[in-house]
Amino acid sequence: MVKVHDPVFPRLAMRVAFITGGAQGIGEKTARLFVKHGAKVVIADIQDDLGQSVCKDIGLDTATFVHCDVTVESDVENAINMTLAKYGKLDIMINNAAIVDDLKPNILDNDLATFERVMKVNVTGVFLGTKHAARAMIPARSGNIITMGSVSGSIGGIISHSYSSSKHAIVGLTKNTAAELGQYGIRVNCLSPHFIPTPSTANMINDHPEKYSKVYSNLKGVSLNQDDVADAALFLASDEARYMSGHNLVLDGGFTVINPAFGLFARAFPLE
Ligand SMILES: NC(=O)c1ccc[n+]([C@@H]2O[C@H](COP(=O)([O-])OP(=O)(O)OC[C@H]3O[C@@H](n4cnc5c(N)ncnc54)[C@H](O)[C@@H]3O)[C@@H](O)[C@H]2O)c1
Repeated sequence: MVKVHDPVFPRLAMRVAFITGGAQGIGEKTARLFVKHGAKVVIADIQDDLGQSVCKDIGLDTATFVHCDVTVESDVENAINMTLAKYGKLDIMINNAAIVDDLKPNILDNDLATFERVMKVNVTGVFLGTKHAARAMIPARSGNIITMGSVSGSIGGIISHSYSSSKHAIVGLTKNTAAELGQYGIRVNCLSPHFIPTPSTANMINDHPEKYSKVYSNLKGVSLNQDDVADAALFLASDEARYMSGHNLVLDGGFTVINPAFGLFARAFPLE
Protein backbone atom coordinates (compact mmCIF):
# COMPACT_ATOMS: atom_id res chain seq x y z
CA MET A 1 0.00 0.00 0.00
CA VAL A 2 1.33 3.47 -0.84
CA LYS A 3 1.42 5.60 2.30
CA VAL A 4 1.09 9.33 2.63
CA HIS A 5 4.75 9.60 3.70
CA ASP A 6 5.84 7.86 0.51
CA PRO A 7 7.26 10.58 -1.73
CA VAL A 8 6.17 8.61 -4.83
CA PHE A 9 3.32 11.12 -5.03
CA PRO A 10 4.83 14.44 -4.02
CA ARG A 11 1.93 16.69 -3.15
CA LEU A 12 3.81 19.93 -2.60
CA ALA A 13 6.23 19.93 -5.52
CA MET A 14 7.72 23.39 -6.15
CA ARG A 15 5.87 24.89 -3.16
CA VAL A 16 7.51 27.19 -0.62
CA ALA A 17 6.34 26.81 2.98
CA PHE A 18 7.08 28.99 6.01
CA ILE A 19 6.64 27.30 9.39
CA THR A 20 6.73 29.21 12.66
CA GLY A 21 7.87 27.24 15.69
CA GLY A 22 9.39 24.63 13.38
CA ALA A 23 12.49 23.90 15.45
CA GLN A 24 10.78 21.09 17.37
CA GLY A 25 7.53 19.23 17.92
CA ILE A 26 4.67 19.39 15.43
CA GLY A 27 6.29 22.19 13.41
CA GLU A 28 9.45 20.16 12.89
CA LYS A 29 7.47 17.05 11.85
CA THR A 30 5.49 19.17 9.42
CA ALA A 31 8.66 20.67 7.93
CA ARG A 32 10.17 17.22 7.42
CA LEU A 33 7.00 15.86 5.79
CA PHE A 34 6.58 18.88 3.52
CA VAL A 35 10.18 18.49 2.27
CA LYS A 36 9.50 14.81 1.55
CA HIS A 37 6.62 16.00 -0.58
CA GLY A 38 8.75 18.34 -2.64
CA ALA A 39 8.45 21.64 -0.76
CA LYS A 40 11.17 24.07 0.23
CA VAL A 41 10.69 25.06 3.87
CA VAL A 42 11.68 28.03 5.97
CA ILE A 43 11.73 27.29 9.68
CA ALA A 44 11.14 30.41 11.78
CA ASP A 45 11.79 30.06 15.49
CA ILE A 46 13.45 31.64 18.52
CA GLN A 47 15.52 28.51 19.20
CA ASP A 48 18.33 29.32 16.79
CA ASP A 49 20.71 26.41 17.48
CA LEU A 50 17.94 23.81 17.39
CA GLY A 51 16.33 25.30 14.29
CA GLN A 52 19.65 25.43 12.47
CA SER A 53 20.48 21.83 13.34
CA VAL A 54 17.04 20.65 12.17
CA CYS A 55 17.57 22.44 8.84
CA LYS A 56 21.03 20.93 8.51
CA ASP A 57 19.59 17.50 9.17
CA ILE A 58 16.80 18.00 6.61
CA GLY A 59 19.28 19.39 4.07
CA LEU A 60 20.26 23.01 3.53
CA ASP A 61 19.21 22.81 -0.12
CA THR A 62 15.59 22.40 0.99
CA ALA A 63 15.37 23.85 4.51
CA THR A 64 16.38 27.30 5.75
CA PHE A 65 16.34 28.62 9.30
CA VAL A 66 15.47 32.20 10.17
CA HIS A 67 15.40 33.69 13.65
CA CYS A 68 11.90 35.05 14.17
CA ASP A 69 10.00 35.92 17.30
CA VAL A 70 6.38 35.84 16.12
CA THR A 71 5.43 38.57 18.60
CA VAL A 72 7.81 41.08 16.99
CA GLU A 73 6.41 42.52 13.77
CA SER A 74 9.80 43.47 12.31
CA ASP A 75 11.01 39.87 12.84
CA VAL A 76 8.02 38.45 10.98
CA GLU A 77 8.27 41.06 8.25
CA ASN A 78 12.01 40.44 7.75
CA ALA A 79 11.61 36.65 7.79
CA ILE A 80 8.92 36.77 5.10
CA ASN A 81 11.04 39.20 3.07
CA MET A 82 14.00 36.81 3.35
CA THR A 83 11.77 33.98 2.09
CA LEU A 84 10.63 36.05 -0.89
CA ALA A 85 14.21 37.09 -1.68
CA LYS A 86 15.44 33.50 -1.53
CA TYR A 87 12.58 31.64 -3.23
CA GLY A 88 10.65 34.38 -5.03
CA LYS A 89 7.30 33.43 -3.50
CA LEU A 90 5.41 32.09 -0.49
CA ASP A 91 2.81 29.38 -1.09
CA ILE A 92 2.12 28.03 2.39
CA MET A 93 2.17 29.71 5.80
CA ILE A 94 1.97 27.51 8.88
CA ASN A 95 1.26 29.57 12.01
CA ASN A 96 2.39 26.90 14.44
CA ALA A 97 4.39 28.65 17.20
CA ALA A 98 2.56 28.79 20.52
CA ILE A 99 3.23 28.51 24.22
CA VAL A 100 1.38 26.85 27.09
CA ASP A 101 1.25 28.23 30.61
CA ASP A 102 0.96 26.31 33.86
CA LEU A 103 -2.42 24.86 34.69
CA LYS A 104 -4.04 27.05 37.36
CA PRO A 105 -7.69 26.01 37.37
CA ASN A 106 -8.71 28.79 39.77
CA ILE A 107 -8.89 32.07 37.83
CA LEU A 108 -7.94 33.95 40.99
CA ASP A 109 -4.49 32.34 40.75
CA ASN A 110 -4.04 33.51 37.15
CA ASP A 111 -1.91 36.62 36.70
CA LEU A 112 -2.28 39.27 34.04
CA ALA A 113 1.30 39.09 32.77
CA THR A 114 1.06 35.36 32.02
CA PHE A 115 -2.34 35.76 30.36
CA GLU A 116 -1.01 38.55 28.16
CA ARG A 117 2.16 36.63 27.28
CA VAL A 118 0.15 33.60 26.08
CA MET A 119 -2.20 35.84 24.09
CA LYS A 120 0.77 37.67 22.58
CA VAL A 121 2.49 34.54 21.25
CA ASN A 122 -0.63 32.51 20.42
CA VAL A 123 -2.88 35.25 19.00
CA THR A 124 -0.76 38.30 18.12
CA GLY A 125 1.84 35.95 16.63
CA VAL A 126 -0.80 34.35 14.41
CA PHE A 127 -2.15 37.78 13.44
CA LEU A 128 1.34 38.94 12.39
CA GLY A 129 2.07 35.68 10.56
CA THR A 130 -1.23 35.88 8.71
CA LYS A 131 -0.77 39.56 7.89
CA HIS A 132 2.71 39.20 6.43
CA ALA A 133 1.87 35.96 4.63
CA ALA A 134 -1.08 37.76 3.05
CA ARG A 135 1.23 40.63 2.04
CA ALA A 136 3.30 38.11 0.08
CA MET A 137 0.36 36.10 -1.26
CA ILE A 138 -2.08 38.81 -2.38
CA PRO A 139 0.05 39.93 -5.37
CA ALA A 140 0.39 36.26 -6.41
CA ARG A 141 -3.39 35.79 -6.19
CA SER A 142 -2.90 32.45 -4.43
CA GLY A 143 -1.73 31.05 -1.14
CA ASN A 144 -2.56 28.84 1.75
CA ILE A 145 -2.51 29.82 5.42
CA ILE A 146 -2.85 27.16 8.11
CA THR A 147 -2.99 28.03 11.79
CA MET A 148 -2.37 25.42 14.46
CA GLY A 149 -5.31 25.46 16.84
CA SER A 150 -6.41 22.97 19.46
CA VAL A 151 -9.50 21.18 20.67
CA SER A 152 -9.41 23.78 23.46
CA GLY A 153 -10.44 26.27 20.76
CA SER A 154 -13.81 24.48 20.46
CA ILE A 155 -14.71 23.45 23.99
CA GLY A 156 -13.88 24.61 27.49
CA GLY A 157 -12.54 22.90 30.55
CA ILE A 158 -9.48 21.25 29.04
CA ILE A 159 -6.54 23.51 29.72
CA SER A 160 -5.62 26.94 31.13
CA HIS A 161 -7.86 29.98 30.69
CA SER A 162 -5.28 31.87 28.63
CA TYR A 163 -4.45 29.00 26.29
CA SER A 164 -8.11 28.15 25.72
CA SER A 165 -8.91 31.83 25.09
CA SER A 166 -6.05 32.08 22.60
CA LYS A 167 -7.11 29.00 20.67
CA HIS A 168 -10.71 30.21 20.47
CA ALA A 169 -9.47 33.60 19.23
CA ILE A 170 -7.48 32.18 16.33
CA VAL A 171 -10.51 30.28 15.04
CA GLY A 172 -12.19 33.68 14.76
CA LEU A 173 -9.16 35.17 13.04
CA THR A 174 -9.10 32.22 10.64
CA LYS A 175 -12.76 32.74 9.68
CA ASN A 176 -12.41 36.49 9.33
CA THR A 177 -9.27 36.36 7.20
CA ALA A 178 -10.71 33.52 5.09
CA ALA A 179 -13.70 35.78 4.41
CA GLU A 180 -11.39 38.57 3.26
CA LEU A 181 -8.61 36.70 1.49
CA GLY A 182 -10.77 34.34 -0.56
CA GLN A 183 -11.12 37.09 -3.17
CA TYR A 184 -7.40 36.67 -3.87
CA GLY A 185 -7.56 32.88 -4.10
CA ILE A 186 -5.97 32.52 -0.66
CA ARG A 187 -7.28 29.76 1.57
CA VAL A 188 -7.15 30.15 5.37
CA ASN A 189 -7.81 27.22 7.69
CA CYS A 190 -7.23 26.10 11.24
CA LEU A 191 -5.99 22.64 12.27
CA SER A 192 -6.97 21.67 15.79
CA PRO A 193 -5.44 18.55 17.32
CA HIS A 194 -6.18 16.93 20.62
CA PHE A 195 -3.44 16.44 23.22
CA ILE A 196 -0.20 14.91 21.92
CA PRO A 197 3.05 14.13 23.69
CA THR A 198 5.59 16.76 22.48
CA PRO A 199 8.43 18.60 24.25
CA SER A 200 5.96 21.29 25.41
CA THR A 201 3.48 18.84 26.90
CA ALA A 202 5.95 16.39 28.47
CA ASN A 203 5.77 18.18 31.83
CA MET A 204 2.00 18.02 31.94
CA ILE A 205 1.98 14.32 31.19
CA ASN A 206 4.69 13.59 33.71
CA ASP A 207 3.08 15.71 36.43
CA HIS A 208 -0.47 14.44 35.92
CA PRO A 209 -0.30 11.02 34.19
CA GLU A 210 -3.68 10.02 35.60
CA LYS A 211 -5.38 13.00 33.92
CA TYR A 212 -3.98 12.38 30.48
CA SER A 213 -4.00 8.61 30.17
CA LYS A 214 -7.68 8.36 29.25
CA VAL A 215 -8.53 11.59 27.51
CA TYR A 216 -7.21 11.10 24.01
CA SER A 217 -10.49 10.20 22.34
CA ASN A 218 -13.22 7.61 22.18
CA LEU A 219 -11.51 6.07 19.17
CA LYS A 220 -9.93 2.90 20.47
CA GLY A 221 -6.80 1.34 19.04
CA VAL A 222 -5.35 4.66 17.83
CA SER A 223 -3.51 7.36 19.67
CA LEU A 224 -2.78 10.72 18.14
CA ASN A 225 0.84 11.56 17.41
CA GLN A 226 2.76 14.40 15.81
CA ASP A 227 2.89 12.61 12.43
CA ASP A 228 -0.92 12.57 12.33
CA VAL A 229 -0.93 16.35 12.69
CA ALA A 230 1.73 16.75 9.98
CA ASP A 231 -0.37 14.51 7.70
CA ALA A 232 -3.45 16.68 8.27
CA ALA A 233 -1.37 19.82 7.60
CA LEU A 234 -0.17 18.21 4.37
CA PHE A 235 -3.78 17.57 3.36
CA LEU A 236 -4.81 21.18 4.05
CA ALA A 237 -1.73 22.49 2.24
CA SER A 238 -2.22 20.31 -0.81
CA ASP A 239 -4.54 20.74 -3.78
CA GLU A 240 -6.71 17.96 -2.37
CA ALA A 241 -8.12 20.61 -0.02
CA ARG A 242 -8.42 23.26 -2.73
CA TYR A 243 -12.03 24.11 -1.88
CA MET A 244 -11.55 24.23 1.89
CA SER A 245 -11.32 27.66 3.46
CA GLY A 246 -12.45 29.14 6.77
CA HIS A 247 -12.53 25.65 8.22
CA ASN A 248 -11.45 24.44 11.66
CA LEU A 249 -10.29 20.87 11.02
CA VAL A 250 -10.50 19.13 14.37
CA LEU A 251 -8.19 16.15 14.77
CA ASP A 252 -9.45 14.51 17.93
CA GLY A 253 -10.84 11.01 17.29
CA GLY A 254 -14.32 12.30 18.10
CA PHE A 255 -13.39 13.83 21.47
CA THR A 256 -15.16 17.17 20.98
CA VAL A 257 -18.45 15.67 19.81
CA ILE A 258 -18.97 13.66 22.95
CA ASN A 259 -20.43 14.75 26.25
CA PRO A 260 -19.08 12.16 28.68
CA ALA A 261 -21.67 13.18 31.26
CA PHE A 262 -24.32 11.67 29.01
CA GLY A 263 -22.26 8.79 27.66
CA LEU A 264 -25.01 6.80 25.88
CA PHE A 265 -22.62 4.64 23.89
CA ALA A 266 -20.10 4.21 26.69
CA ARG A 267 -22.91 2.81 28.84
CA ALA A 268 -24.35 0.62 26.10
CA PHE A 269 -20.98 -0.81 25.05
CA PRO A 270 -18.65 -0.70 28.06
CA LEU A 271 -15.08 -1.34 26.91
CA GLU A 272 -13.32 -1.65 30.24
N1 LIG B 1 1.23 19.14 21.73
C1 LIG B 1 -0.08 19.17 21.87
O1 LIG B 1 -0.67 18.42 22.63
C2 LIG B 1 -0.89 20.14 21.06
C3 LIG B 1 -2.27 19.94 21.00
C4 LIG B 1 -3.05 20.82 20.26
C5 LIG B 1 -2.45 21.87 19.61
N2 LIG B 1 -1.11 22.07 19.69
C6 LIG B 1 -0.54 23.21 18.98
O2 LIG B 1 0.40 22.77 18.04
C7 LIG B 1 1.42 23.75 17.89
C8 LIG B 1 2.78 23.14 18.14
O3 LIG B 1 2.79 22.56 19.43
P1 LIG B 1 4.01 21.66 19.95
O4 LIG B 1 3.44 20.79 20.99
O5 LIG B 1 4.74 21.08 18.82
O6 LIG B 1 4.86 22.80 20.69
P2 LIG B 1 6.42 22.86 21.04
O7 LIG B 1 6.54 23.68 22.29
O8 LIG B 1 7.04 21.52 21.01
O9 LIG B 1 6.99 23.73 19.83
C9 LIG B 1 6.64 25.08 19.72
C10 LIG B 1 7.75 25.81 19.00
O10 LIG B 1 7.38 27.20 18.96
C11 LIG B 1 8.53 27.97 19.24
N3 LIG B 1 8.14 29.27 19.77
C12 LIG B 1 7.63 29.57 20.99
N4 LIG B 1 7.46 30.90 21.11
C13 LIG B 1 7.85 31.45 19.94
C14 LIG B 1 7.91 32.77 19.44
N5 LIG B 1 7.55 33.82 20.21
N6 LIG B 1 8.35 32.97 18.18
C15 LIG B 1 8.73 31.93 17.39
N7 LIG B 1 8.72 30.65 17.81
C16 LIG B 1 8.28 30.43 19.07
C17 LIG B 1 9.31 27.14 20.25
O11 LIG B 1 10.68 27.56 20.30
C18 LIG B 1 9.11 25.73 19.71
O12 LIG B 1 10.13 25.38 18.79
C19 LIG B 1 1.06 24.88 18.85
O13 LIG B 1 0.30 25.85 18.18
C20 LIG B 1 0.20 24.18 19.87
O14 LIG B 1 -0.66 25.07 20.55
C21 LIG B 1 -0.31 21.22 20.40
